[in-house]
Amino acid sequence: MWDEIGDLQLRFLVSQGLRPDHDLLDIGCGCLRGGVRFVDYLNAGGYAGVDSNPSLLEAGYDLELAQAGLTDKLDRSALLASDQFEFEKLGRQFDFAIAQSVFTHLDLNRIRRCLAKTAEALKPGGRLFATFFEGPADASPFTLTTHLSGIVTKSDADPYHYLIDDFRHAARGLPLEIRRIGDWGHPRGQRMLEFISTQTTASSPT
Ligand SMILES: C[S@@+](CC[C@H](N)C(=O)[O-])C[C@H]1O[C@@H](n2cnc3c(N)ncnc32)[C@H](O)[C@@H]1O
Repeated sequence: MWDEIGDLQLRFLVSQGLRPDHDLLDIGCGCLRGGVRFVDYLNAGGYAGVDSNPSLLEAGYDLELAQAGLTDKLDRSALLASDQFEFEKLGRQFDFAIAQSVFTHLDLNRIRRCLAKTAEALKPGGRLFATFFEGPADASPFTLTTHLSGIVTKSDADPYHYLIDDFRHAARGLPLEIRRIGDWGHPRGQRMLEFISTQTTASSPT
């Protein structure tokens, strides 16, 4: 679903107000499925991607971006290999961030770290859009949930499902407001959440 989910990400963020002059952070960007579209859409230098797997970043830059003729629009240093969400290493803050099909693979403590670091990386009023599989409200930790395309999720193993309250817990004390967007047309039934920075002044990332 390379093209379908790549196009969906760009279409969605544009519908949410992403403009070419914005700065966008792509968390768990992989080999730039969304990234190629974002680099094409944004002004040169507007995109940054972070992934724990350096070989995916290499493939994204050297194959995907090169084939699309877009390497002139992105310095290689804007792709950061990190599994600790060290966005401060990018040295700037962002209007938008997206984590597409990333929280579906992370336990809640890692999601909390990601949210804390993203809160620092967003400009005041900046917005993170994150996809997740939604679990049943009344389920025990052992309940399996089947989503579109037959994907089965659990509350305690990858691929994970979560409740909105799980994310409220993970974001507790952070300068982020949560909004459930829900169905955004994902072909595997992942739902969308928005986290909006409630900071009023720019902070320097630590
Ligand atoms: C299913 S892929 C989604 C990739 C991309 N967002 C897309 O839509 O094509 C999940 C990505 O998250 C990355 N990832 C997993 N844990 C991570 C972490 N702690 N920090 C950064 N990236 C992570 C994986 O390496 C993988 O590339």
